[in-house]
Amino acid sequence: MLAAFVLQTSPRAASPAYKGKTQAYARSSKCWECHQVDYALWTQSHHAQAEYAAVPANCQAAFDPTRSLKHGTETTTTRIQNGEYQVVTLGIDSNRQPFRVDRVIGVDPLRQFLTPAPGGRWQVQEASYDPKSNQWFYVYGADLRYPGEFGHWTGRGMNWNSFCAGCHNTNLKKNYDIATDSYHTTRSEMGVGCEACHGPLKNHIEWRRTHPQTNAPDPTLSPMNRTQVLDYCGTCHSRALDLTGNFKPGDSFYDHYALEMLDDSQKWYPDGQIHDEDYEFDSLLSSRMGQDGIMCLDCHNPHTGKNLVDGNDLCMRCHTGGYPKAPTIDPAEHGHHKLTDHGSDCVGCHMPVTVYMQRHPRRDHGFTIPDPLLTRQLGIPNACNRCHADKSTDWALKYVVQWYGPKMNRPTRSRAQWIAAAENGDSTARPPLLNLLADTNQSPYWQAVTVHFLGQWADEPATKAALLKQLTHPHPLVRARAAQSLEAALSDPEVTAALQKTLDDPVLSVRLAAAWTLRATLDMQSRAGREFQQALDVDADQPTGQFKAAMFLLARQHVSEALPHLEKAAAWDPISPPYQCVRAQVLDELGQTAKALDILTREETAIPDDAHTPYVRATILARHGRYAEARLAANRAVAIQRDFQPALELLREMPGNH
Ligand code: HEC
Ligand code: HEC
Ligand code: HEC
Ligand code: HEC
Ligand code: HEC
Ligand code: HEC
Ligand code: HEC
Ligand code: HEC
Repeated sequence: MLAAFVLQTSPRAASPAYKGKTQAYARSSKCWECHQVDYALWTQSHHAQAEYAAVPANCQAAFDPTRSLKHGTETTTTRIQNGEYQVVTLGIDSNRQPFRVDRVIGVDPLRQFLTPAPGGRWQVQEASYDPKSNQWFYVYGADLRYPGEFGHWTGRGMNWNSFCAGCHNTNLKKNYDIATDSYHTTRSEMGVGCEACHGPLKNHIEWRRTHPQTNAPDPTLSPMNRTQVLDYCGTCHSRALDLTGNFKPGDSFYDHYALEMLDDSQKWYPDGQIHDEDYEFDSLLSSRMGQDGIMCLDCHNPHTGKNLVDGNDLCMRCHTGGYPKAPTIDPAEHGHHKLTDHGSDCVGCHMPVTVYMQRHPRRDHGFTIPDPLLTRQLGIPNACNRCHADKSTDWALKYVVQWYGPKMNRPTRSRAQWIAAAENGDSTARPPLLNLLADTNQSPYWQAVTVHFLGQWADEPATKAALLKQLTHPHPLVRARAAQSLEAALSDPEVTAALQKTLDDPVLSVRLAAAWTLRATLDMQSRAGREFQQALDVDADQPTGQFKAAMFLLARQHVSEALPHLEKAAAWDPISPPYQCVRAQVLDELGQTAKALDILTREETAIPDDAHTPYVRATILARHGRYAEARLAANRAVAIQRDFQPALELLREMPGNH
């Protein structure tokens, strides 16, 4: 019976999008008259309620009666006053005052609130509301943030225009104006409307209205294939850098976004499980199911946002046998738990839960294998102990060995081990990673990850040759990573020539990866050069974007032009060591040594556990022959981090007593 159901519903037909250049958006409300069933399903969905105006129907319970929330030494009060929803809290000037709340993001399990601010901005309040328990809570938990900081609710890190709007609205244009540091953000509709997925459909409505009698297909629509659907789901369900600010459904993800993936930033664990808030798209790509072409619509209804069926039945649509390549699973035997217990839930072991924003449990879409051995060896969490938190890793390992035996020795286990080794710079990982790269069973996702970690050895001949080969890999993720990873081999003319060719790659994210690696010499009048400048402008409202612009100018020896960008980055995110360190180095180079040293000393007080800052101070002092002071600063860096090689080297190289 299940098998028949699978045949009916598996690989689903594609949905259409509007063809041509002059598309306009109509808004969801216009669809109702002809698509009442889809409209009704969507209205109840979380997509429809991704963002909405604060009105009594959705805000009364949260703001009435007046309540107070303590976090750290601060108290925040929520109340209704003069007909406004208000949050009374610390503002930018460190004084407590009331702020109006006009809009809400999210519905269940939590809601966040938006307050208007100067320059067309909207800022996200830290006090958040849990509708089920009718409680207010502090969304950062124990992580306290203060006025003036990047991540405080008044800071750029909590700016809606830049950080929330694109995913919680339809057809959003950020429209940041660099000259006035203000926003003219527009959208065709609040929330994730019909056209966030189907693309602009004004012409569809007109055509249908003028051809009411016909059953013929609407010629203004063109069908979207499964990759196009997955790509637009991916734009909002992933961490990615927006390179163009103008994606629309039907476009390729990789022509607009640089996807963040497992790398050394520890946002994912080496076996692919999520660590930071990584959403679903990457994880699915990293899984064997994703590699096989299974995507969101195989489990989710796009209009309700709910699962197609509940519980294990969802998985058993394919895992009862009959679905091509899907291993047959007998739930009772395979799960080794009583079928009446949650211990036998497929998702319990293969989609473990991580809670984000204090209240939002999310399931890992990497469909990984629970492996207590990786926990013992590398500290990677395993699903068994996530549930059995009161039991030891060895306890879980014993049962896994007993239950699954040699089947635990999967290629994914050794892959996780080598990636973890490469993350620690262990060069014994190099040959096995080269083997992984040559293994055609590896998905593009893991090849891209492998390419990233091999980058640290890019000047070694065999590695360089393997990476060069990846510049022509069929998948843009792999080509883009290869273009980045070859940075360490730039002195080789063969590498520069190959990268130069990559500037004409058919996919934008690949061209821009090559452009960054070649930034010292990139021709800004070329297509890649212009696209690169556009991407810098898209990100110009954030300290990361300003810092990138500065690093670009510094690579081209434009030292004084880099300074204003560094000043902005440092002003917008004052306690970030990289910004202050590079700013100080540039100031020193421009002859303002006293100011440079002063900045670094203050930064050391603000972040006393960062070894890099005293090290940079040491290099500046050494540059001016102030060796005794330089020695003190370098020793301070080593006191913070004993194996901090650059500081140790500086100490060795400095002349003796001065
Ligand atoms: C005046 C009536 C009318 C309006 C308004 C209208 N549609 Fe349609 N639409 C139709 C008809 C008729 C069809 C063809 C029959 C069908 O598939 O339902 C269609 C087809 C579609 C299809 C393709 C279905 C398929 O399987 O090929 C999509 C998607 C769609 N409409 C989305 C929308 C959206 C989104 C809106 C609002 C922006 C909208 N429509 C507004 C009448 C309308
Ligand atoms: C424009 C951005 C955007 C696009 C495109 C998008 N989503 Fe979402 N999705 C969101 C946001 C934002 C939420 C969270 C909404 C909320 O609860 O506030 C969400 C929530 C969901 C949920 C959880 C729903 C629930 O009831 O908890 C699912 C499932 C989902 N999306 C699947 C998809 C799929 C599948 C696609 C592609 C067909 C897709 N999304 C396209 C932004 C988007
Ligand atoms: C990259 C796209 C993206 C960005 C940027 C983004 N979100 Fe979301 N948000 C989502 C998606 C998708 C979900 C649904 C959960 C998931 O996919 O795991 C979600 C869920 C939420 C939820 C929980 C929804 C509910 O119904 O309980 C809240 C609250 C939320 N986001 C607030 C924000 C705020 C505030 C910002 C900006 C600071 C923001 N989001 C930025 C995509 C995004
Ligand atoms: C999160 C993305 C998303 C949103 C939002 C969305 N759709 Fe769809 N819609 C899809 C996908 C994907 C399909 C194709 C489903 C399939 O292939 O079976 C689809 C199919 C359709 C169809 C074809 C017939 C059907 O029902 O399957 C119509 C009509 C349609 N959508 C109308 C709408 C309307 C009207 C809205 C808003 C009220 C809307 N959609 C909102 C993603 C979305
Ligand atoms: C093989 C099935 C499967 C596939 C494929 C799949 N999901 Fe899910 N998804 C689930 C299950 C199961 C849940 C948990 C639902 C629950 O707890 O009620 C879930 C939950 C979610 C949620 C709610 C928040 C969370 O993370 O728990 C979102 C959002 C979501 N999926 C989005 C997506 C998107 C986007 C894609 C495609 C990139 C996708 N899913 C592909 C099975 C799947
Ligand atoms: C649409 C069909 C389909 C559905 C639904 C589905 N699977 Fe799969 N699954 C597959 C296929 C096909 C493979 C094998 C892919 C391959 O090896 O190329 C697979 C492989 C797997 C694997 C092996 C992963 C690995 O690294 O070896 C796990 C685990 C898995 N699925 C779990 C689940 C769970 C849990 C669910 C339900 C939430 C689910 N599947 C739903 C088709 C499906
Ligand atoms: C979703 C939560 C969940 C996951 C994941 C899970 N279990 Fe369980 N487990 C349970 C529940 C519930 C029971 C039954 C209640 C009990 O006896 O504790 C149970 C019972 C057991 C028992 C028998 C009772 C005992 O304490 O001796 C063992 C052994 C066990 N689990 C091992 C594992 C191993 C090994 C894994 C990973 C491969 C695992 N479990 C994954 C929830 C889970
Ligand atoms: C108690 C934990 C646990 C539960 C529950 C569980 N699995 Fe697994 N699953 C594992 C482990 C461990 C492996 C690796 C060993 C193996 O291949 O049997 C695995 C492997 C798999 C594989 C890959 C098999 C292969 O031959 O490569 C699939 C597919 C899979 N599980 C699907 C499911 C489905 C579907 C369910 C729910 C009916 C489920 N699992 C429930 C722990 C679990």
